[in-house]
Order: sequence, then C-alpha cells, then structure tokens
Amino acid sequence: MSYNINNQISQAEPRSGQCLRTFLREQGWFGVKKGCDAGDCGACTVHINGEPVHSCLFPAQMAEDKEITTIEGMADPDGALHPMQQQFLDAQGFQCGFCTAGMVMTAAKLDQAQRTKLPQHMKGNLCRCTGYGAIRRAIEGDSDTEISATKGACGRNVPAPAGQDVVTGRAQYTMDTEIAALTHLKILRAPHASARITSINTTAALASPGVIAVLTHKDAPTRKFSTARHQNVDEDVADTLVLDPVIRFVGQRVAAVVAETEAAAEAACALIDVTYQRFTPVLDPRAALASDSPRVHEANNSNIVAEVHGGVGDIAAGLTAADVVHEATYTSQRVQHAHLETHGCIGYQDPEGRLTLRTSSQTPFLTRDALATLFDLAQAKVRVFCARVGGGFGGKQEMLTEDLVALAVLKTGRPVKLELTRPEQFTGTTSRHPMRVKVRLAASRDGLLTAMEMEVLSDTGAYGNHAGGVLFHAVGESIALYKCPNKRIDGKAVYTNTLPAGAFRGYGLSQTNFAVESGIDELARKLKMDPVAFRRLNMVRPGDPLVSAETEHYGLEMASYGLDQCVDLVEQDVNAALLPDLGPDWQVGRGIALGMIATAPPRGHFAESQITALSGNQFELRVGTCEFGNGTTTVHAQIAAQVLGVDPTQIRVLQSDTDLTGHDSGAYGSTGTVIAGSATKAAAEELLARLQSTENATDVALTGIGHADGARRSIAFNVQGFVVAVHRRYGTLQILQSVHAADAGTVINPQQCMGQIEGGVAQAVGAALYERLEIDAEGAVSTASFRNYHLPAFPDLPETVVHFADTHDPLGPMGAKSMSESPYNPVAAALGNAIRDATGLRFTATPFAPDTLYRDLGARTQITQP
Ligand code: FES
Repeated sequence: MSYNINNQISQAEPRSGQCLRTFLREQGWFGVKKGCDAGDCGACTVHINGEPVHSCLFPAQMAEDKEITTIEGMADPDGALHPMQQQFLDAQGFQCGFCTAGMVMTAAKLDQAQRTKLPQHMKGNLCRCTGYGAIRRAIEGDSDTEISATKGACGRNVPAPAGQDVVTGRAQYTMDTEIAALTHLKILRAPHASARITSINTTAALASPGVIAVLTHKDAPTRKFSTARHQNVDEDVADTLVLDPVIRFVGQRVAAVVAETEAAAEAACALIDVTYQRFTPVLDPRAALASDSPRVHEANNSNIVAEVHGGVGDIAAGLTAADVVHEATYTSQRVQHAHLETHGCIGYQDPEGRLTLRTSSQTPFLTRDALATLFDLAQAKVRVFCARVGGGFGGKQEMLTEDLVALAVLKTGRPVKLELTRPEQFTGTTSRHPMRVKVRLAASRDGLLTAMEMEVLSDTGAYGNHAGGVLFHAVGESIALYKCPNKRIDGKAVYTNTLPAGAFRGYGLSQTNFAVESGIDELARKLKMDPVAFRRLNMVRPGDPLVSAETEHYGLEMASYGLDQCVDLVEQDVNAALLPDLGPDWQVGRGIALGMIATAPPRGHFAESQITALSGNQFELRVGTCEFGNGTTTVHAQIAAQVLGVDPTQIRVLQSDTDLTGHDSGAYGSTGTVIAGSATKAAAEELLARLQSTENATDVALTGIGHADGARRSIAFNVQGFVVAVHRRYGTLQILQSVHAADAGTVINPQQCMGQIEGGVAQAVGAALYERLEIDAEGAVSTASFRNYHLPAFPDLPETVVHFADTHDPLGPMGAKSMSESPYNPVAAALGNAIRDATGLRFTATPFAPDTLYRDLGARTQITQP
C-alpha cells in the first residue's frame, strides 16, 4: 500500500486492524505519542488531508493515499517552524512535552473564531503537567521570553534547551528508539484481590507462534524488595517479589510473556492456565486494623505497615483551656499520577554484556542499585539511563517495570521492551495514599490555638512501598505550620488487598493539609474570627520551633521566611476579585489555605555534578538528576552559567545516566533544583577557580566536580486562594478566581516556576473536584481510563494567578527553594473553605464532585448565608 507521510511516499503493509498510531511509529515517526490508545488524550494527533484526527482511533489502511502529516512534517522544508510550533516554543507551552505534538497539531488547525473558544476546541487534548495555562498562552501567541541582559543567567525566563526538539517531535522519550531484534513483554495480571497460585501451566503459551519465553514465579528471584526507591533502602519494607505466587490485589503480575511481537505476547498471555485458591480480601483500611482481619501479608502479625506517635505538651490540658473545639474526619480519595507517558522500559545487554536499561524513571541510580542487588550483579555490570521522561509526579519513584524487563533480558539474552497500556497504568501501578484524617483542634476566645490533635489512617494497599515515608511526611509540616503548645499525632498505614499506593506529588501532605486547613477554618468561624486573621495569629514565624510528631528534624530549619508575604498577596487578590452578576441562584464564597514543606527529604539526599570546559567557550554539564517536565535542565544550565559568567546556551546538559556521573539519589522530593542544583553550583565554582588559576588555555579539558547532601534543609511556603460560586439548586461549582502565592526563594526561572505552580494547582483541582480511582466490591479498579477517571481537560480547570514572595534562601543554590510538589497541597482545603463560605456547608471528603455537591445541597433549606 502507498502512504504519503510528511510528503514522503512510502510503501508499507499495515497489519489487519492496525491503528494509524502504531503504524506511523513503526515507520519511525516517533513524534506520534501514545497516551491512552482510546481517543481520550490526543497525544497521537496527526493531520489526515489537513484535518486533525486521533491516530489511535484511525485505521491505518484507511489512510492509504491520503496526505498524512505528523509533528515532524509541520516545519517548512527549510527548517522554519510552523507558527504554532514557534508559539509553543516562545511561550514555553509545555513541561514534560509529551502532549505537545498533539497539542500543536490540533491548535494549528484552529481558525481565529475557534481560538477565542479554546476550552471548547482543545478539550480533546489532555495535558497533565501545565494546567493548560501555558498552552493557552502559546495558542494565543502570548509569550514572555524577553531576556534581561543585566540580571545574569538566573532570574530570567531562559527557554528550555529541549524546546526546539519538543515542538518539532524530535525529543526522544523512552520508547522513541529503534533497537535491533527487539522483543516485547506482556504481563498476565491477577483477576482476584487475594489468592494463591496453586498451579500454572505455560505449555500452550510457550507453543504459541512467536513466543520466546514465559516467565512465572518459578523463574524469578526469591529475594524480596520494595518497589519504592529511596536513598535509604531500609525506609521501605521489603515485601515484593518480581513474580509472587501469592496474589494481593487485582492487577498484580502473575506471569510474563516475551515474544517477537506485542500481539504474539498478548495472545500467549491468554493461553497461560492458572489455578487459584481464593481468599477473602480485606478492602477497607478500618477493617484491616481489626485483630481478626485476614493478613494481607500472611507472615505479619497485623496489617499495620508503619505507625507514628508523638507530640508535645498535654492535649487534655489544651482542650480544657479551650473555648471552642472543632472535631471532624476528613477523607481524601485514591487518585492517580496520570503522567501522559506510561511506565515503560527497554532492556538489553551492551556489547560488554552489561545489563542496560533505558527507562522512564525519576531514580536511575537507585534503580541500578536495586537491580544489582536483586540479580546479584556488580553495580558496574548494570547501567540505567533515561531519555526524556514524559511526566512523573512521584509515580516514577518506583521500580515497576525495570525488574521484570531485567529478568527477561537475563533469561532470554534478547533486547526486551515493556510499555504499559493506560488501563495497566490505572490497575497495575500505584496511586496516592487514600487517607482518613481525624482532627481535633481547639482555641481560646482570644484566638490562640490551645490543642491540635491528628489521627491518620493511611491505606497503602497491597504493598508497603512509601507507606512509612508518606505517613511520616503527612504528619510533619501539616501540623508544624501552626504554633500550639499541645500537639498530638497518631498515624497508621495499613495493608489492604487493593492497588498499592506510592509516592505522589506532595507525599502525603495534601491529604493531611486538607484536614488541618479545613479544621482551622472551622475553628475561626466558631470564634467568629476572620479565617485569614486567625491564621496570621497562629502560623509559625521566624524563630518559632517546628513541632510535629518527630523530635528529630534532620537538619530542618527556617532559613528564610515568606509565608506572611504569601498570605498578604493571596488575601489582597481574593478580596479584590470582581464578581460577575450570576443571579440569585448562585452563592459566592472565598477561601484560602496555607501549606509548608521542607525543601529536601530527610536523612540525606545526594547529588554529584561535573562540568567540563570545552573548546569555543562551551561547557558540558553532567548531572545525575532527571528531567521529566520539572525544568531542572534549564535551571542547571542557568546556575552553571551564572557562576561562570557565560550565557546558558553555552552549557550543554547531559543527565540521568548511571554512566555519566557519580551517585545521584534522584529527582524526588523536589530536589532537582535545591540539591542537584547545589551540586551544579559547586561544580561550576570549582571549574571557575581552575579556569582562573590556569594561565592561558591548556590542552587538558578542565573539569569541576560538585557534591550536595541535603544535610541542611529549609522550608518553603505556599498559599492558595479561591473565589467560587455554587448553584444553590444544582450544586454546580464555578471557580471565579484562583490565586496562588509561593515562597520559592530566589526564583531562577520565573516562567518555568510559574508553570510548575499552575500545573500543581491544576492537578490538585482535578483531585479536589473530579478524579476518582474507584475500587469495586471485588477489589478491582473500575475507572481504568482517562474518561472514566475524569482526568481534567481544558474546560475543567481555572486559570491561576501566581505570585512569588520576595525571599532569598541561604541554603538553596542562588537563594532558591523547591517548588515542584508543594503548590498541590493547600488546594483542596482552599476550595473546601470557599465552598463552606458560599454555602455554609462543610464538605469533609474529596472530590467535591457535582454529584456530591448536588446530593448534599439537595435539602436546600440547609443552605445558609455565611
Ligand atoms: Fe503536557 Fe506533560 S507537558 S503532559
């Protein structure tokens, strides 16, 4: 058959029923991305005879003799970018960039009238990173890339070095490569929530055409490990096997097939004959606490994975001294990271026989170390590296594909690819920890807190990855944010036979912050005080101790402080909001919430950077940390350029490869700027000293090496405010204003940092209003698609105004603080507080979905004016 792809005529035979997306990628057009293969996300958008289509839904055979244009064909033959590509480049309308090709393809075909209705016309293209603010600015041609020559490299909107590659589709993500003799791995997953495999017959599968190997628990290592990746391995319970004969959740791996094609591997999975002995699952975390509950991990004495107990003062005395008390239980649901690039990994043995993995990970070094231990290999015999990573949000701080691919490579000797489907992403990876958080807050009539008590029950699902870390983090900064002489925290994380929870943006703080900041609001109302004034009276100030459950703070200090500025900035905007006349059925309310977060994880986080002076006044910077849309590549180039007194374009950044540098703990806990950036600053300073002490040029390339260890940690602050309108009869919610102020220290790249904040707020609005990863009565995920899960689209999200406090942190590189995770945390509470202000009703469970609001507002007589 004849195909015209980007004005190149080729002959090819698509397979029967093959979609255009996979066909185009097999022809080498890697700019066509896979986000869902269900027509929901638009990452695969191409033009057919000039019309945008989702290529995952378009039969390849129907494209014969039609003009097919992919993102690679949008630029002029002479290389000039299509105007829409240029606009996305100028406005930096992307973060990870995985959605960008599809966005550009759709936006390029909008006429002027359609561009005035972007929510309507862009709703078929999903972005998880940006919150659509930067995309809207790009399509509208609203860019702000002006670079001041007077400020040095930092503090400027330096464009991302990968920008040209992202907007042209040349940026290579994990799966965007051709490997000779590549085989394909598919996973057979468990249909039961609790069971034991009593027999597994692979004969028919092995005999199936194209099958190379079928792997079961009999082929896998017997050493247990945690999928969580942390610098300190003992932070996570080792409770997982590569393939386990005991099934603990619906979707757990049962077996794997390696075959010459994906279709052959998938077909063979269906031929594996498994017999299960089924058990009664425990699906509810409260039931899991009961002494007679079935044990998810049979050898344990209970289902409790981790617990924390601590505090200061005397809660009973604090309650006695109080004039008002608020007590309530707040619940946060399971939500998914939903990064547009699914988990995936390609493994092979290099010419020297080293196990080599190209993977979508936030932690290549820690994954290398774990694989070496798991398979009894010397670290030098394993290399793990990342191409560009299409989003992470904590989901890729796990080893969820690499262990199985490594096993397959070692067993077969062949290159092996594993790319999860979108349903697998929902059913077989991880989620945010669902939590029940009971708070009891008390204050005296002069407005001072007298007692803060918090009881947390965290559901870690079938495995304990991140269970302890998330729990400890959840009960830290959420309650340390306020001064109070009497604090008590009790938290437990429990196993259930459900999808494992794991690291997620905010690392537990969003759930506890929702409880504490909602409770603080209620307490202020009981005192008939303005909630903002109540917060000002009680929030921590410089010099105040940071008190939570733990007495050991691992180098945490308030090295800079901008919370007061953030509160002022948000309050001003929220109070000054101009409200449209919505009519008598709409009730309007305002709400804010505060957040605080340590700028680095406790107990050590390590980074090494190397920078080498090349000829022509160029520099090569090698960093271990990853770029997955967090903007660290640009920030590192800026930091190095600032130190060396050159332009960031003179810095070429190589990253996230265990062969490139010494150890790096990875891109989690928002460490890419603060810790890895500190290592880069130190490396550049060492190189500068060498350059200054070296007379004339030498034949030897000079290198500087820098390290950072996160031993001293500072505090960053965030404040979110909303103005909302709630329809008194239908429960419909409109966000009239969203404003966020961040204390990010000295902001190295304002445009990128603003994008991180917009994206964090948007992701949190999604979790607060729409997203639900639901588990049915049998323990199975019942919302395994973007559509059913309700990933927010363009029309679902508000624009957020972003302000920065004017601070400088002495512990961060160039005065910077972390700002990737924390914007997420105060959003649910701020929305709940605004809804409370509008309706008089306190909603204690997220999401505040229309059906929930409608149900609870149903008895309209309940609605009172605030
Ligand atoms: Fe849109 Fe990452 S930039 S999905």
